[in-house]
Amino acid sequence: MHNSLFIALEGGDAAGTTTHSHLLKGFLESKGFKVFLTHEPSNSKIGVLIRDFLKNKEIPPTTDALLFAADRDLHYRNEIKKKLDEGYVVISDRYIESSIVYQSAQSDDITVDWIKKINKFVGLPDLTIVLDIDPEIALARKETEELEKFEVSSFLDKVRNLYLLRAKEENYHIVNSDDIIEIVQENIQKIVLDKFKNLSKL
Ligand code: TMP
Repeated sequence: MHNSLFIALEGGDAAGTTTHSHLLKGFLESKGFKVFLTHEPSNSKIGVLIRDFLKNKEIPPTTDALLFAADRDLHYRNEIKKKLDEGYVVISDRYIESSIVYQSAQSDDITVDWIKKINKFVGLPDLTIVLDIDPEIALARKETEELEKFEVSSFLDKVRNLYLLRAKEENYHIVNSDDIIEIVQENIQKIVLDKFKNLSKL
């Protein structure tokens, strides 16, 4: 049976995408699926450069957008597509919606259309789930004092509103992330299982 499915977990900083990606991987593996867990920025040299730039407020938003698009192009072609072709469920902790939301929140010159254009050649997820949480609660959860340039509550308010708007436009699933981890994860699992059921893969 070919069980490939491409899932992206999205949300503002500290919304829990990393924790829930790992938990979802474990759950799907326990159901017998082969799972490839990945994240963006990716582990490529471009991804490593981006991680460095995330600490630097002098990098223009357009440069950020182009680098994230280049990283994604490489990531999709060299990793994600190959795994999907091999029948894996691919879970990406952040993907194109992060660029659409974060980079357009950074500058009025950056439109959703332009982000889509520079990301034109990558495959899109079959399922996008947005984890929603009040940024003040999310940032209070962070263990480190050293915050990246996007980890400012006023900016993350904008990010949150844009995610909610995009979810409405694109029919993405929204999961309230301000709940105990087990409940949030259960809600994510339900959405994924429903998707498999709709695809008659269970
Ligand atoms: P993370 O470790 O929380 O995933 O941090 C990655 C940061 O990069 C987060 O603040 C969101 C941001 N980001 C973008 O601005 N654009 C993108 O396309 C991606 C993938 C991430």
